[in-house]
Order: sequence, then C-alpha cells, then structure tokens
Amino acid sequence: MEINQDTSFKDFFKKEIRKTEIIKNSKVFEIAYLPNEIFKRAETLDLFQEIARIIRFDKPTHIFLRGLPGTGKTVTVKYLQEQLKGLGNAKWQIIYVNCRNRTAVDILKELNELNSVRLISEEQMTTCFIQNLKNNTILVLDEVDKSRYEISNLLYRLSRISESTENPTYKKLSTILISNKLDWENTLDGSVRSSLQMRVINFNSYNPDQLKSILKERIREGLISQDVISDQLLDWICKMVTEERHGDCRTAIETLFYAAQNVEERGVKTIDMEDVKLGYGVCVKKIEKARIMSLKNHELYVLYAISKSDTKTYANIYNQYKDIIRSKIHERIFSYSKIFQDIKYLEDQNLVRKNKKEGSKELTIELTIDESAVEREYLTRSENINSSE
Ligand SMILES: Nc1ncnc2c1ncn2[C@@H]1O[C@H](COP(=O)(O)OP(=O)(O)OP(=O)(O)O)[C@@H](O)[C@H]1O
Ligand SMILES: [Mg+2]
Repeated sequence: MEINQDTSFKDFFKKEIRKTEIIKNSKVFEIAYLPNEIFKRAETLDLFQEIARIIRFDKPTHIFLRGLPGTGKTVTVKYLQEQLKGLGNAKWQIIYVNCRNRTAVDILKELNELNSVRLISEEQMTTCFIQNLKNNTILVLDEVDKSRYEISNLLYRLSRISESTENPTYKKLSTILISNKLDWENTLDGSVRSSLQMRVINFNSYNPDQLKSILKERIREGLISQDVISDQLLDWICKMVTEERHGDCRTAIETLFYAAQNVEERGVKTIDMEDVKLGYGVCVKKIEKARIMSLKNHELYVLYAISKSDTKTYANIYNQYKDIIRSKIHERIFSYSKIFQDIKYLEDQNLVRKNKKEGSKELTIELTIDESAVEREYLTRSENINSSE
C-alpha cells in the first residue's frame, strides 16, 4: 500500500487486515492444535493397545513413549485423553503435565491444584495427590527429560505408590513418560528403572507418505481449498522434511503455513516453489532457535565445544569441552562416553550432523545451525551462571 502523510492508521489498518483469502482457519496450523482425528499408524495402535490393557485388567503399568521431535507423541496422548473423556465410563482418566523447565515441586503443585507454596514436603504432596484421586489415573509426564532439576525421586515415589495400591481406598496409577531423548531411560538410576519396569513404545520418524496424509488433512481443515498447493510441492516438503529434519511433522506443518501466509501477502491464490522454500527456511530457523534455547546447560556446553573445536573429531571436541568447563564454567566434567551420548542427542535434535571426509577414517561432527546463535545462547547462560555464583 502506498503511504503518504494523509494516510491515517485506521485506513492503513483496514486495508492490511483484510479478510484472509486462502487461510480459512489459522488455528489448525498452531502446534498446540488438537485435531478431532489424528493420523494413525502401527505405533499409535501399539499405544492404544497398551492403554486398553491397563483399563481392561485394571493393572498399573509404566510406559516410556519415545521418538524424535515431531513424531506425534504429544498429539497422540492428548487425543487419547479426549477419547477417554468421551467414553464416559472408562473408570480411568488421563492427566497430562508438561515437565519442561519445571521442578518436581512445580509438577506436584499442578497435580494437587495448589496455587500457593505450602510448607509440605515433596513426599507429602505425592501422597496427597494419590489419596485425592477420584478415578484410576494414567499420569502423562511429557518432556520428562527437560525438567528443571532431577525428578527421578518423584518417579520413584509414584512407582512405589502405584505398587502399593493394595490399600483399597487408593485409586490406581499408571504413567506414560514421554521424551525425544531416545536413551533417556538409561540415564535413570538403576533403582528407579527397576521400580518402574517400563514398557517402551517407540514412535518412529514419519516417512513422506505419512507426512503427506497429515498435511492433506490440515489443508482440508485450514485452507480454503486443496488446490491452493500442488501435489508436487507437497511432495517436495515431505521429502525435505524426511531427508533433512528426521521426518519432523512440526516442520512440515509450519512450512505449509508460512508458505500460505506468504501467498496471502503477495495477494495471489496459489502457493509456488518460492513460497515453499521461503516457508521451509523460516520454519527451520525458528525451530532451531527454540531447540537451542531448550537445551539443558550441559548440552549447550557440548554444542558450544563442537562449534569451537578445530578438527571437530570426537577427541578434539571432548578436549575443547573440558577446557571450557575448566576455564569458564567451573562445574563437574563428565566422562567421554557421556559426551558421546550428548552428541547423539544433539544429532537427533537436528543441531549437528556426523560427517566423514573423503579419504579419512575419522568421523567429524559439524554444526547444522548458525554458529553465532550457539555463541549467543552460551554467553547469556554462562554469564547468568557466573553472576549467580
Ligand atoms: N499422527 C498425527 N496426526 C495429526 N497430526 C500430527 C500427527 N503427528 C504429529 N502431528 C502434528 O505434528 C506436530 C508435532 O507433533 P507433536 O507435538 O505431537 O510431536 P512430538 O513427538 O511431541 O515432538 P517433541 O518431541 O518435539 O515434543 C503437531 O502440530 C501435531 O499436531
Ligand atoms: Mg511433544
């Protein structure tokens, strides 16, 4: 729109906020959106079966639901929660809590619906939660690896209590622990692990056909018509997401949305290749930034060490990591094998990639993201740590 001194904000606003023409319902593209029906595959049925077994035999079970980012873990349990509510008489309910950046006390406060801090211990709050349950419960702890501090004590207590449900006044408790850290179970203390005896369900990465089915459904619900985007462009998105982003469905959906937004701004009716490439670029940057910010301090130090390492071999990265911790952070230095696991996690999060130079036997680890974004986050956090000492 041409702007001159006579243009009032009202005129400008009216023209700019015209009705969108191809996006029918933008909510459909939001990450927290819960569709009425989800796309189901073998993994989904595995989980359904496990839940049905818990309900049928009234038998508390602990499930570890794992899968790389965007494999549908959260949306599937939220869908299950709604479905169970709809059954009405299932005798079991699902309670969902996200653990990201929260302590065990934060989680227990939410479970007990306490707004203020009460001077009761973690243990008392756990018992109180169990005693007050009105229904048998499947407690979902999503992003269980991303809590602020260790919550293994809480997990241990929950598993012990669910075992001792011989007390007839107590309702039964099962848990679903969710993580995109595939080896999270191995980081648990032996006693917690053996007490939980988790049944592992693995959500594999989506393949292009599965992603396409999900995208088509979002288009049906969120865009004005299926003709807004061609099949070839949808195939391009699904191929890129599968090859470069481990099949992360979030990237596929957001790419489509940004492409559609760009079309709205251009004032045309169909998405073209440029819109899709632009959408993909914006989306990848946004997700990468969020992933860097959600890393725990220690994981960020490893990422920073990779960015600062000259040769980028495992050995050189480990030396770099030790230097950083010793000279700047002054925290405990972890073993080589722990750092090896951390690098695997960063790889799963699409933040680094393994590489093998031609003619060389040695593997190197390259950043797949902007080095300056890592440096910025590292400097902010290390400043905070040092100033709080
Ligand atoms: N089977 C599915 N059917 C419909 N939508 C899906 C499905 N799987 C994933 N999605 C959509 O893809 C996006 C990412 O899914 P979700 O948030 O469940 O991933 P996640 O596995 O929990 O990832 P993370 O590990 O990062 O938390 C969401 O918008 C979700 O609605
Ligand atoms: Mg999730």
